[in-house]
Amino acid sequence: MARYSRIVGWGMYVPPRVITNDDLAQIVETSDEWIRTRTGIRERHIVDKPTESTATLAARAARAALEKAGLPPTALDMIILATSSPEHLFPATACIVQDAIGAVNAGAYDLSAACSGFVYALVMAHGLIVSGQADTVMVIGAETLSRLVDWSDRNTCVLFGDGAGAVILQGSEQPGGLLSSVLGSDGSGAYLLSLPAGGSRLPASLETVRNGDHYIKMDGKAVFRFATRVMAEATRQVVEKAGLTLDDIDLIVPHQANIRIIETSVVKQLKFPKEKVFINLDRYGNTSTASIPIALVEAVEQGRIQPGDHIVLVGFGAGLTWAAALVEWGPELPPPSRWRQFLYGLFYPLGRIRSAFRRIRRRFFAYWFGTRERSEEEWRRLRGEKSTSSSEPDT
Ligand code: UT7
Repeated sequence: MARYSRIVGWGMYVPPRVITNDDLAQIVETSDEWIRTRTGIRERHIVDKPTESTATLAARAARAALEKAGLPPTALDMIILATSSPEHLFPATACIVQDAIGAVNAGAYDLSAACSGFVYALVMAHGLIVSGQADTVMVIGAETLSRLVDWSDRNTCVLFGDGAGAVILQGSEQPGGLLSSVLGSDGSGAYLLSLPAGGSRLPASLETVRNGDHYIKMDGKAVFRFATRVMAEATRQVVEKAGLTLDDIDLIVPHQANIRIIETSVVKQLKFPKEKVFINLDRYGNTSTASIPIALVEAVEQGRIQPGDHIVLVGFGAGLTWAAALVEWGPELPPPSRWRQFLYGLFYPLGRIRSAFRRIRRRFFAYWFGTRERSEEEWRRLRGEKSTSSSEPDT
């Protein structure tokens, strides 16, 4: 029997702190007028507490998606977290989220495809489900790019914002869900948008820090040209692959990087009605992998997506990469009963107790066998966490 994957839950979270264009004009030589007319951005949310991080934003979005789906965290088979601002080179941020939400039955990994990452992750989740390797997969796009931009570089610091969006994909025998996808890359343009240092090619050194090589570097104009071309092409291809035409598409949810990119590509090149393109970048800026899921969640919550609608998610980013997915939206599931909600709410503290127990057991064995334990205290100190009794990031 054919197997399909359907989106059964969705959630988003942005940190409360808002930075307006006028606020930025206090830091770098720019103006509200320049940012609004060149990008469409008015404000963005950014993390302002050391305890807020990519994982904490992701965990909040993940919990919201689980609540929407009426599922406990234990129902997840896999967590795929797309991000360009992982907490560390390793372990994967997805594992920190797995622990924070108590998804004790889930595998977890990060996916790096820059701003196209969420759509890439969605397609990977679909593949796991239709091949029968997983039934319920959490896909998250989460970023704290504010930690990686050079706040003295007006070419980049005005563009980005922080946030997270998540969806849950579940196997189904009912036709629908993800109908087609297009994934592409062109590494010959790797240099156009990068964070050069801190990896194995250019390890951190006094020199890399002094040169500012740990900040995002971008050739904005070249990325702009690439983006306008691939957004239109990928949309056209994904619609054709599903055996549909652009007239069948009810909403396009594009990567929210720049209003001029969206207008030049999907609106002008495809001659697609602007009212059927979802735009919220004015309030969030470019949240990279989080931009498409945040926009998707807002579109659903605003009633812009109805059961049976055909939606195109399309993005582009560093790599260079691009990705598009065509989704047939399913019927909304009935909300879980209050009793069930209460019961599932207990899974989160239980998950933390389980995690704390595992740490204590590890300490015990280290003591018993007389081995030197890799210091959990040191890990927590480096991460700016306080307690040793809870594994939960500041969610
Ligand atoms: O997720 C993917 C991430 N990247 C992108 O999506 C980036 C795609 N590119 C873009 O969105 C646009 O290229 C930018 C918004 C980055 C820049 O817009 P632009 O219209 O391509 O501007 P520009 O780079 O050609 O710069 C025009 C002028 C320059 O001054 P001069 O040389 O003409 O005197 C810049 O120095 O605007 C200046 N400028 C600014 N002025 C005020 C650049 N940034 C700013 C700024 N405020 N923030």
